[in-house]
Amino acid sequence: MGKKNLDWGNLPFGYMKTDKRFVANYKNGKWDNGKLTKDDKVCITECAGVLQYAQTCFEGLKAYTTQDGRIVTFRPDLNAERMESSCKRLEMPVFPKERFVQACLDVIKANKDWVPPYGSGATLYLRPYMFGSDAVIGVKPSQEYQFRILVTPVGPYFKGGVKPITVRLSDLDRAAPHGTGDIKAGLNYAMSLHNIVDAHNNGFAENMYTDPATHTYIEETGGANILFVTKDGKLVTPKSDSILPSITRRSLVQVAKDYLNMEVEERKINKSELADFAECGLCGTAAVISPIGKINDHGKEIIYNDGKDEMGPVLNKLRDTLTGIQMGTIKAPEGWIYEIK
Ligand code: PLP
Ligand code: COI
Repeated sequence: MGKKNLDWGNLPFGYMKTDKRFVANYKNGKWDNGKLTKDDKVCITECAGVLQYAQTCFEGLKAYTTQDGRIVTFRPDLNAERMESSCKRLEMPVFPKERFVQACLDVIKANKDWVPPYGSGATLYLRPYMFGSDAVIGVKPSQEYQFRILVTPVGPYFKGGVKPITVRLSDLDRAAPHGTGDIKAGLNYAMSLHNIVDAHNNGFAENMYTDPATHTYIEETGGANILFVTKDGKLVTPKSDSILPSITRRSLVQVAKDYLNMEVEERKINKSELADFAECGLCGTAAVISPIGKINDHGKEIIYNDGKDEMGPVLNKLRDTLTGIQMGTIKAPEGWIYEIK
């Protein structure tokens, strides 16, 4: 079998059923061996912990075709570590790191015909996730869990690819002080749905959240961390205990310092500083780097990159360097790239 016959250059960021997915079950205190299966259906009791009390967390990473035709993935070990934090915080069993990484490699290999070709602008998105699968009615953790990894080919997260988007400063919160903003719990996304629908209805691509305790400092959007570039070319990114520790952001900080000789500041960013920056963007697995052209602060517009309809030069350089590392045209730091053989 060869590559699937898809219109790779025009894929949305959406779900498509692919050939195989990975499934493992946790019962009586241990994980089974797990397997790849064609069956895309999940069969659980009506009273499952995930259905009653949202006991679920997930991850997101991608597989790429390199310029020389290899299939690779990017830092799956960090997804395993972050999922471990999510599981511990949600009283779920940890799926061991080595097994997590191996399952990612196996599921990519089993779906290699779905990995978009180099240069198409599309990638294979992997969604590892876990949920409580046995019946609970009192508020307590499940005893049984399922860990799965599905894959689906995707195009850009925001329509228009790298065209600047407009976001609004949000009045609602995605995280609570000392809550679960720093883990990838499904509940964080459930509670953002009303706000994202409202943002879209009002012409905004995303909500930019501020710190939930004081609404003073910039945090992140519903699905990505935030990057700023100062007028003198420094990379500045918010530091907060209630944002997700983005693997893309942590990688970009290293790329900025080691590949582009940039100064980097990870610190609290007061919303009063927003107008001082030259460029702004989102970063994440789905978002890669997506430029923000405007932030709407209750009717007041803050404009980046002089209002041009394109990504600013510094974010563009960062994006090209990161995607070059991911797609094999730039040498990666040791341990970042895993090849699927
Ligand atoms: N912040 C949130 C809320 C997210 O959902 C994501 C996506 O995973 C990110 C940030 C970016 O994280 P990463 O770069 O690890 O994909
Ligand atoms: C990702 O970037 O992997 C995410 O999980 C973000 C989500 C909003 C698609």
